[in-house]
Amino acid sequence: MARTGADEAGPRHVAIIMDGNGRWAQSRGRPRLFGHHAGARRVREIVEACPDLGVSYLTIFAFSTENWKRTQTEVAGLMSLFRRYIMKEMQDFVREDVRVRFIGDRYRLEPRLRELMEEAEAMTTHCARLNLTIAINYGGRDEVARATRRLARDVAEGRLDPETVDEQTLPRYLDTRVLPDPDLVIRTSGEARISNFLLWQSAYSEYEFIDTLWPDFTREVFASVLAQYSTRERRFGAVTA
Ligand code: IPE
Ligand code: IPE
Ligand code: MG
Repeated sequence: MARTGADEAGPRHVAIIMDGNGRWAQSRGRPRLFGHHAGARRVREIVEACPDLGVSYLTIFAFSTENWKRTQTEVAGLMSLFRRYIMKEMQDFVREDVRVRFIGDRYRLEPRLRELMEEAEAMTTHCARLNLTIAINYGGRDEVARATRRLARDVAEGRLDPETVDEQTLPRYLDTRVLPDPDLVIRTSGEARISNFLLWQSAYSEYEFIDTLWPDFTREVFASVLAQYSTRERRFGAVTA
């Protein structure tokens, strides 16, 4: 049975579309931001659970290139939550040996947030127990477009021969260039769509769509989704004997 990129028990790289914060809050008669705060607390729990569950890469979708379409109140509230989250967690990441990276177009983010992101990345470069990647202002199409722009520049300036461009070339220009492809992509809240997440990288990922809303996604739910993954057979186009 082929399970490339993962140890025999479970996935090495898990990516999560953390969806359902708004509905979770609304069902309690609270504003959407209340749900985003509850969701941020779950991130801590899931980050802590990863090493014990054999997960060494965790990539989480926090804000998409499409999420700017939300109300100004919600967008500003999310940006402030990201700032506070990074400030509060930075020391813990170092202590827990978690290397933090961000993907997405950070140049569209406010300078203060960008500075904090860079600080968190710099402070954790030596950490190795878990690779946590947070996608902020991330869109798969935007990422491929930005990668293509850099690739085209390299061709125009004579650093890259266009005849050599193949499937291995583009990933070197993606935001995820140092990460393995995700073995498993989980989406919470019952929606069965990708919403522009890791389009290139998830070509052969397993998907789990679960009904649980993100603020209810406990360590136990996470463990059960990973157990489900380990029953799957990944064929990558081949036929198993
Ligand atoms: C996901 O929860 C978090 C972000 C997109 C920032 P939502 O805010 O999309 O919650 P629902 O889907 O409206 O319930
Ligand atoms: C995807 O969720 C983005 C994040 C979880 C950050 P959305 O709630 O924005 O996706 P759609 O709009 O339902 O597709
Ligand atoms: Mg949503």
